[in-house]
Amino acid sequence: MQRVSNRRRFLELAAMGVATTVIAAACAPASVSSPTQAPAAAGSPAPTQPAAATATQAPSAAAPTPTSAPAPAAGATATPSGFGKFTAQPVTAPPGYTPATGKLEIFSWWTSGGEVEALNYLYGDFKALNPQCEIVNSAITGGTASGGNMKAVLQTRMMGGDPPESFQIHLGHELFDSYVVAGKMEPLDTLYADEGYDKVFPKMLIELASYQGKPYSVPCNIHRTNVLWYNTAMLKDIGAEPPTTWDELLAIAEKLKAKGVGTLGLAESSPGPSAQLFESILMGHSFLGPAGYRGLFTGETSWSDPKITDALNLLAKLIPYFNPDYLSVSWGDINDLMINRKVAMMVMGDWTPGVLWSKGFNDFGWADPPDGKGIYAFTSDSFGLPKGVKNRQAAINWLKVCGSKHGQEGFNFYKGSIPARTDADLSQYTDYHKWANKLWTDPKTEIVGSIVHGVAAKPSFNVDFQTAINVFVTKKDVTAAREALLKAAKDAGFKT
Ligand code: GAL
Repeated sequence: MQRVSNRRRFLELAAMGVATTVIAAACAPASVSSPTQAPAAAGSPAPTQPAAATATQAPSAAAPTPTSAPAPAAGATATPSGFGKFTAQPVTAPPGYTPATGKLEIFSWWTSGGEVEALNYLYGDFKALNPQCEIVNSAITGGTASGGNMKAVLQTRMMGGDPPESFQIHLGHELFDSYVVAGKMEPLDTLYADEGYDKVFPKMLIELASYQGKPYSVPCNIHRTNVLWYNTAMLKDIGAEPPTTWDELLAIAEKLKAKGVGTLGLAESSPGPSAQLFESILMGHSFLGPAGYRGLFTGETSWSDPKITDALNLLAKLIPYFNPDYLSVSWGDINDLMINRKVAMMVMGDWTPGVLWSKGFNDFGWADPPDGKGIYAFTSDSFGLPKGVKNRQAAINWLKVCGSKHGQEGFNFYKGSIPARTDADLSQYTDYHKWANKLWTDPKTEIVGSIVHGVAAKPSFNVDFQTAINVFVTKKDVTAAREALLKAAKDAGFKT
């Protein structure tokens, strides 16, 4: 109980941005691989996060130690075999380009395989165009859900009037409710006009970047958050196809259990992954369906809907088929469990292939999640311009790299996501990227925003949602989870 309430407190603090006192152990700066080395994460276990940070720990130095990024030449980074091959043309400055000098500090939580290579690619473009400007890579690993530790440090910096030149943030509610409504960001309408973004970003993404008619960030990608990843050999061994329904998955799970291995990998050392699995279940055709799921945030679907209880009951049925140590495994380590044949599948976002490729592992497949055919839950990573940055020219030049065709083509190849730009050339991309892009661009696809990855609901609700499901997979109490979700929905002003 103590552990749970501490977690809850940590989440609240993180959301309020005063959690820098609790991130002591996990606040390690990212290491950036040099152009001639294999990336830091390749082949080595990803950093493990602390299981439950408590609000009583001693404060640590709030800011991460900045790491100066080297200047990898675009396309020249040595990469592990799993990625396939991507060759970039040299990046060229458009006429009238003003190179920046001084320093560019960038915040992100990109410290895992795939993420590091993708970020380095963008840094490579920036450095080629701004050779006199030093990049300070303030990537911070770990924390609750996506980027918990980074978000906490960033909040302190933003509130203290010491913003980095730019930072990673999800489009939608995470962007608006963290900093835009509070007046902490510059509108980017001039940049959008100068760079012609209105013509190359999908209208829906521009809307998710815009508040009161003005855009506030530049999207670099589209991640699908609800994909079933599987170890091909493990399914083959038991003669199974990737399950298309939860019943099929449960039948496969029994066969895997007989072999002494887990079915679904879950990394719940801190809240987040179980909530992501739960949102995937909830939006499935047999539960709320995509329209019903969207309605949860528009007042058309009540949070008292019995399908939500059904979804909790299904999640309870899946728990015995998780890796048994699911409450102490972190997101980085879960990928190793699948590589090492300890679990056969995961429902996770498409940053997963980036991690697997970075470990040289290619023996995996992907499919719609059970009950989720044609439903594309998504998030989009973006960068904006805080008010009062020290080096505005560098910040603008960084945003231009993030929004550029050259930048997005290389970045997304490594990241596993697809470019936000509609004019990107995907011919060098993997089958996975092409599969995702086909679904994203199919007019019949049901696109829905992820709660856990910031798009669909405000951060305070996201925290409550993740906490409720984390407690649920710990205690398995359906009634209590239902009440916690109802309370969270009421507090957020949703229909109950
Ligand atoms: C998501 C983010 C991705 C990836 C992932 C894992 O929220 O959008 O870019 O970093 O978290 O950390």
